[in-house]
Amino acid sequence: MPFTPDSELDLLFPPDIIGEDVKSQLHPDLHIRPLASTDYRRGHLQVLSVLTIVTDPGEPAWVAQFNAIRSTPKTYYTIVIVDKASDAIVAVGTLFVERKFLRGLSSVGHIEDIAVDKRQQGKKLGLRIIQALTGISERSGCYKTILNCSDANIPFYEKCGYMKKENEMAKYA
Ligand code: ACO
Repeated sequence: MPFTPDSELDLLFPPDIIGEDVKSQLHPDLHIRPLASTDYRRGHLQVLSVLTIVTDPGEPAWVAQFNAIRSTPKTYYTIVIVDKASDAIVAVGTLFVERKFLRGLSSVGHIEDIAVDKRQQGKKLGLRIIQALTGISERSGCYKTILNCSDANIPFYEKCGYMKKENEMAKYA
């Protein structure tokens, strides 16, 4: 499949919020952009499956979820890195912006669902995704950006400039 430029895609949010600093550091064979409404066909779920169990809902349900997420603007920022030669997604990540009543009606950025295709791991794509999402968080006015991860991933996030703070609690339904 030939590479599809941003101008021909229906994107989750305007691409110019992704920092030029991150774009310029990416290998020329790769492209970083917001999730697009046709990314079900570019392997979005396959890349996510390196992270956890992914149940394929089928394209119409995937698109309905895309539209539901887009209907809350300035809240969800899912970005992808695409391999230009195959037009396939090789890395993904999401920033969720939570509005607060405290700290002068400030916001907190939550980084979620970071995944890099197994064949592309170790090439700084995870780092670029985190740098891009952190930049969006800071430019959105978030006073901090936080995430949960396994012990095994702590060194990765430390390399991305994050530090361990407090604990995660969870209760599964
Ligand atoms: N332990 C130690 N160092 C690591 C690890 C690790 N597990 N992973 C990466 N690093 C280091 C790299 O060596 C590199 O260091 P360097 O700058 O000194 O060379 C630096 O961190 C950046 O690494 P990247 O090449 O950007 O890492 P990659 O592209 O492989 O992405 C990721 C890392 C996202 C963890 C990837 O391996 C992956 O998708 N893993 C499976 C899914 C997963 O665990 N996702 C994160 C869940 S947490 C969340 O979503 C909030």
